[in-house]
Amino acid sequence: MKKIRVLSIFGTRPEAIKMCPLIKELNKYDKIESVVCVTGQHRQMLDQVLMNFEIMPDYDLNLMKEQQSLTSITASILLELEKLFPEINPDLVLVHGDTTTSATAALAAYYQQIPVGHVEAGLRTHNIYSPFPEEMNRKIISQIAELFFCPTESNKKNLERENIYKNIYITGNTVIDAFKYTVKKQYKFKNESLRKIEFDGFRVILMTAHRRENVGKPLENICRAAKRIVDENQDIQIICPVHLNPSVRDTIVSILENQERIHLIEPLDVDDMHNVMARSYLIMTDSGGLQEEGPYFGIPVVVLRTETERLEAIEAGTAKLAGVCEEAVYSMVRQLLNNRKEYRKMAQAVNPYGDGHASKKIVEAIIKWGQVL
Ligand code: UD1
Ligand code: UDP
Repeated sequence: MKKIRVLSIFGTRPEAIKMCPLIKELNKYDKIESVVCVTGQHRQMLDQVLMNFEIMPDYDLNLMKEQQSLTSITASILLELEKLFPEINPDLVLVHGDTTTSATAALAAYYQQIPVGHVEAGLRTHNIYSPFPEEMNRKIISQIAELFFCPTESNKKNLERENIYKNIYITGNTVIDAFKYTVKKQYKFKNESLRKIEFDGFRVILMTAHRRENVGKPLENICRAAKRIVDENQDIQIICPVHLNPSVRDTIVSILENQERIHLIEPLDVDDMHNVMARSYLIMTDSGGLQEEGPYFGIPVVVLRTETERLEAIEAGTAKLAGVCEEAVYSMVRQLLNNRKEYRKMAQAVNPYGDGHASKKIVEAIIKWGQVL
């Protein structure tokens, strides 16, 4: 019997965290031959994830450049994949989400008429400049893809509004599958700085911010709000693993460095990250992934953006949209810290992102699709 050759392509930290559980699942099936290619759009932050999940890519394009532009990373991925596809000759290319790697890999596959499966399909803000360029990236992938793996029902509805009806599967989000590998009872942090932080007697806020549209003034506002929260609440500590993008680092460091009870640390590997999340009181973030992860742990999420494609979390009551003005962020966090009833309501809301079996559902759909090859 001919195997279905599935080529998974990813390049950044969040794609890797959400694709690794799926790759482990693909490896379990005789009917599938799984091949992994990383673009290296991220280097250190991608390698951290690959090490955690013990996944060794078959191909590594190693493309990251310091402060790369969208155009340069897009052009290099297109050119490299043009050469690689004939060598691998995949039956299906799998991409994830909305990064430059994902959209470009889908486009490169289309140019060689290779079918594309889209994991985490159907997310939309309906604003092509927020998140930028991710909203356009995922719209492009939707036009190209043949198989759509949607985390939730509302993602499916978004696709239907764009007249996409075929081969849509609601699977949950593979990030929930990842917890099976990362979250452990009695976990001991690997990161030295984390080990030194006192958790007992404190409420810990886990904060991350990195989005392109927040770089500059919005990120400054967010940092100032965070500083005020810590200054006014002696029982609050903020742990902020700082993204390696230099534009992000410069702002965060310039405002929050050397502040008592604010811990600026290097990007955490995903084991440490998920386990520190499990012990946090509140999350402040502009990250997509953290908006999905917080609800799993029952940790309220304050979203540091003006809109979100993860409306399920808002509707379920586990996340609130704060915007990016200093006063709005400050007031929302302050209110959650002071109002126990409101906090508990958010903490008890139900996780809308699935039961941790998304990868299995995706592989089963691929096998069914592959029968007609
Ligand atoms: C990218 C994705 C974004 C995703 C984010 C996750 C695009 C356009 N953006 O944004 O959707 O939310 O990843 O983190 O695809 N850098 C390093 N080492 C690393 C990673 C980044 O040094 O391991 C630095 C480099 O200078 C690099 C810069 O960060 O040029 C920006 O990286 P890039 O992937 O272009 O954008 P992100 O903002 O990380
Ligand atoms: N994450 C991590 N270490 C960190 C910060 C984040 O492992 O220091 C994980 C986080 O738990 C989530 C993913 O990275 O699974 C989110 O990635 P990121 O915020 O970079 O991108 P986004 O989700 O916004 O695309």
